[in-house]
Amino acid sequence: MKTTIPSNIGSYEARLKDFSWSIAEKELGYRPGDDINIAWYCTDRICKMGKASKTAFIWEGLGGAEKKYTFNDLRLASNTIASFFKGLGIRREQRVCLFMDRIPELYLGFLGVLKLGAVAQPLFSAFGDESLLVRLENAQTTAVMTTHKHVNKVRKIREKLPHLKHIIVVDDQGKKPLQAGEVAFSLEKAEPVEDFQAAATKAESPSVLHYTSGTTGQPKGVRHVHYSLISQYLTAKWVLDLRDDDMYWCTADPGWVTGTSYGIIGPWSLGVTQCVLDVGFSADAWYQFIEKHKITMWYSAPTAIRSLMKAGEEVVKKHDLSSLRHLASVGEPLNAEAVVWSQRVFGLPFHDSYWQTETGSIMITNLPGMKIKPGSMAKPFPGITATLLDLATFEPMNSTGKVGLIAVRPGWPAMLRGYWNNEEAYKKKFRNGWYLTGDRATIDQDGYFWFVGRDDDVINTAGHLVSPFEVESVLLEHPAVAESAVVSKPDEINMEVVKAFVTLKPGRQPSDDLQLEIMNFIRKKLSPLAMPQEIEFTPSLPKTRSGKIMRRVLKAKEWGQEIGDISTLEND
Ligand code: WT7
Repeated sequence: MKTTIPSNIGSYEARLKDFSWSIAEKELGYRPGDDINIAWYCTDRICKMGKASKTAFIWEGLGGAEKKYTFNDLRLASNTIASFFKGLGIRREQRVCLFMDRIPELYLGFLGVLKLGAVAQPLFSAFGDESLLVRLENAQTTAVMTTHKHVNKVRKIREKLPHLKHIIVVDDQGKKPLQAGEVAFSLEKAEPVEDFQAAATKAESPSVLHYTSGTTGQPKGVRHVHYSLISQYLTAKWVLDLRDDDMYWCTADPGWVTGTSYGIIGPWSLGVTQCVLDVGFSADAWYQFIEKHKITMWYSAPTAIRSLMKAGEEVVKKHDLSSLRHLASVGEPLNAEAVVWSQRVFGLPFHDSYWQTETGSIMITNLPGMKIKPGSMAKPFPGITATLLDLATFEPMNSTGKVGLIAVRPGWPAMLRGYWNNEEAYKKKFRNGWYLTGDRATIDQDGYFWFVGRDDDVINTAGHLVSPFEVESVLLEHPAVAESAVVSKPDEINMEVVKAFVTLKPGRQPSDDLQLEIMNFIRKKLSPLAMPQEIEFTPSLPKTRSGKIMRRVLKAKEWGQEIGDISTLEND
């Protein structure tokens, strides 16, 4: 039997009434106008509170390799990394990219960059050179922190990046040669820096830059500021319900926003111990990890839950998972079946949480103690005013059951402050005083939000957004491809996967080999997520009279939906 202990939030209704973000400011000891440095709050402050020797971080890699860090270790490591960067001449607000697997240096490096007052730009380590290039170009990144495993992808594009001054290799054993302009750094060998004055960043100083994909144009760099801590701290406390004696596991990679907002900043600003597993997915390995570290709070994603469901209940029974106390999910629609299943096999339901790279923190969610309606995202976090806008007029709808656009009143602390070097795209995110999420939902008579789908063509595969435009652009670089259209197709586990329709250049014939070659081309240049799971060769693509390819028609076919108005089609 689980003992029921009161949740951190207590009563949702009561918090709605008395809510102010100053609750978090007061708890953190921050007064408006003070310096605010996320890394200082996650390390130095926790040590000052008497938790210096508390375990902050347990890392597990392949073959059971394990490393442990206390909050004092985090403080020293971030000092050491920040002062190393400073020695290289890296200055405040310059962008430092972290391009690594989920090794400890990724987490510690992130804190080091913020402590220096530079901007942390984490990029998913499975990105290929083309994905990397557009993001480093847009951010005019000064330095990349990486490992031998990934450095070749950076070397390949270096000449195209005039702003890139430093490549830092963090796992150099002196065995493999480095190239000119590359420098080795070993946290284990470096002399720990006891005192480092965290940069006196202010609320609006830039902190983290995550890239997200849209329907058109290149990926957008979402600019966050140090004040985001206020939202991240309070949502981690109330939604994830984190407490002092928790063992927390966030399964997201810090290459994506969940992995930084709730895989670094949330738990550590609360002084909570977190565990990280840096091995590929397997149900047995995951349950083993929960059992071994007695995980109490688990934040995961629907694709992972569906994979666990597929692995079955026998493997669950092989493990003692009784330490689990609270479960939450993010990134994609959480199916009703997944909630019912987890209640049955773990004795606990997954709590949904809805947000975006742009929102920086959780927006709509099932808070502890709130009634769960499986399949619904539940209600806005206190302090968040969310509504549905009419699809055509962008006016608030105030009617239940009708599909509208999810919109949020601007002004919460973790809201993006802009898209990097892309003011125009940022302006398009606002209408009639609302921030537009780009998602559709309905609201029921109890005020619960039900996710319907995206309002654009962006593909959400396993919780990761893929831009059809980005994939189409790279497809055109392949010598056999004349034209292409990229859409989503349904997938049992990943919800959606990428499918490409391709017309070939004269003289090129469709074949299985060519299909594989093109798939690999995308995987290497962009990433395994963006790789089409299917390529359909076709003699022509549906177009409007003005020559625009109509993805909508192809997508509707994949999903078995009505095609809708095709009166502007050129050939049907
Ligand atoms: C998009 C944002 C925020 C963390 C990871 C994703 C979809 C996110 C849910 C949910 C249904 C969801 C939306 C959103 N999404 N959470 N609980 N239910 N859909 O961040 O990569 O910026 O993606 O993911 O479409 O707009 P992101």
